[in-house]
This record gives sequence, structure tokens and C-alpha cells, in this order.
Amino acid sequence: MHTAVKAESLSIGYTDHLLFENLNLHIPRGEISVFVGSNGCGKSTLLRSIARLLKPTTGSVLLEGKDVHRMSSKEVAKKMGILPQSPVSPEGLTVYDLVKQGRYPHQSWLKRWTEEDTEKVEAAMEATRISDLRDRAVDTLSGGQRQRAWIAMTLAQDTDVILLDEPTTYLDMTHQIEILDLLFELNEKKDRTIVMVLHDLNLASRYAHNIIAIKNGEVHAQGKPEDIITCDLVRSVFGMECQVSKDPMFGTPHCIPYGRGRCVVPELRVSTGA
Ligand SMILES: Nc1ncnc2c1ncn2[C@@H]1O[C@H](COP(=O)(O)OP(=O)(O)OP(=O)(O)O)[C@@H](O)[C@H]1O
Ligand SMILES: [Mg+2]
Repeated sequence: MHTAVKAESLSIGYTDHLLFENLNLHIPRGEISVFVGSNGCGKSTLLRSIARLLKPTTGSVLLEGKDVHRMSSKEVAKKMGILPQSPVSPEGLTVYDLVKQGRYPHQSWLKRWTEEDTEKVEAAMEATRISDLRDRAVDTLSGGQRQRAWIAMTLAQDTDVILLDEPTTYLDMTHQIEILDLLFELNEKKDRTIVMVLHDLNLASRYAHNIIAIKNGEVHAQGKPEDIITCDLVRSVFGMECQVSKDPMFGTPHCIPYGRGRCVVPELRVSTGA
């Protein structure tokens, strides 16, 4: 297995507390990896640290064997793009200008804007279905439209490694599947390494080759969804009881959380407590 990103003895945190101490992590190249874990466990912090947006206290993040914190931000941005969890754009910035920003790492004094840059921007807007919003200000869009504009910017960057923090948040069912299918296709056809944070375990299981479950500052489990998504894992990572069966269409793990509901099959009422 080839590694796209490797974290070695990584300690990360904020002024008064460390979230990860001596964390080691391998992200396989050419696969879709998904971080899962409860709110506040540090998924976004870890992703930001991988993307060089947050400097670790100790340890290093290696991208193709090179320490990202010893590379320039532009050098990293040519190889790895990130969609942060709650990105904010300057007031009035249009969708087209936002997506264009994805191409900046590829520009230089010697290499000005080319036809290829225009094509990549148009293709990213087309793929995320925001072409007709191109002249709208990003801050006037709906949550889902805005999210798709940011995803387009990340795709226009055209990097081998793409990091996305909860890319499906705010998206309706159709757009969720469209975006995940698009990322799947980028992985399959263009061999892109995709690393995402997702909260939906069923979608994570359907699309990920590799799930990384985070708990208490550690990788609690990592592997194929079929191997690691179990009731025990869900109980220990999320503190929740559930039933795990096979997704009838994809054969991947399908998790149904216990809890209250309007109609519960009577014989299950006792065991689930619903
Ligand atoms: N800038 C910051 N300064 C101080 N603490 C922070 C900062 N950002 C995050 N934290 C804290 O670090 C912890 C991890 O936050 P993080 O955003 O990485 O969690 P997460 O796993 O992405 O959660 P979620 O699922 O809610 O997005 C939380 O306790 C959070 O309050
Ligand atoms: Mg987060």
C-alpha cells in the first residue's frame, strides 16, 4: 500500500490543551479515506493540520515523503487542496471569482492565466452545478449553493490529494449523492486521493475504501468499512446503541441507531428500548 500522507508522532492542540499526542497515521494513496468521530473529537483540527493550516506542536506531516511544514504554502497547494468546515468568503465575492481562486497556486510570474485555467474553472462549476450562479455573490447564496461553490473551488485546484471537511453538510439528498459520486469518479478515473470528514456512517461506508475512527486523541480503528463498522465500534466511538446490517443495494454496512421513533416494529421495541 502506498502512502499519500503520513503523520509521524504528531502532537496537535490549542493553547491550553493538546488534542492529539504522538499520533501516527497513514493515508493510502489513490483511495477514499473518511474520518468519523463524535463532535469535538478533533477531526477538523487533524485535517487542518494535515493541510498545513495548523502547525503541530511536535511531529510532522509528510506529503509524498516531504514535511508539509517545510514546504511553501503554494507548493503544498499544488498537490493538496482543502475544503474547510466553515469557510468564509469576502463580502460580495462572486462565485466565479471564488472558484478562480482555486487556480492561484498554479499561477506565477512565468505562468499567467491560461486557457487551461479557464477550462478547469468551468469544468469545476459544471460538475458542481453552479455555472448559472457564477455572477452571484457567494454571501447571498443558500447554504447548499455556497457549499457547492466552495467544493468547486477545491476541485478547480486540481490536486492529487483532496481534503474535504463535511462536504455534504447543507446539501439536499440529490446534491449529497452527486458530490459523493463526483468525488468517487475523481478517485476512480483520475486516481485522486480523497480524504473527507463525514458524519453519515452509511454514506461513509458506501463510498470509503478506508474509514478512520477517531476517539480520545487516537485512531480508535482504521480499515475497510466492512471490517470495522460494527455495533461495538459505534458504541465505543459514539456512545450509541445501534443495529448494523448490510445495505440492501451496496452490501456495505448500514447502521440504524436506536432511539425513539413514530412506529417501531413491536418485537424490536423491547430490545431497542424505543
Ligand atoms: N481555534 C480553536 N481554539 C481553541 N480550541 C479549539 C479551536 N478549534 C477547535 N477547538 C476545540 O478543539 C476540539 C476539537 O475541535 P474540532 O473542530 O477539531 O472537532 P471536530 O471533531 O471537527 O468536531 P465537529 O464534528 O463538531 O466538526 C473541540 O473541543 C474544540 O472546541
Ligand atoms: Mg469538524
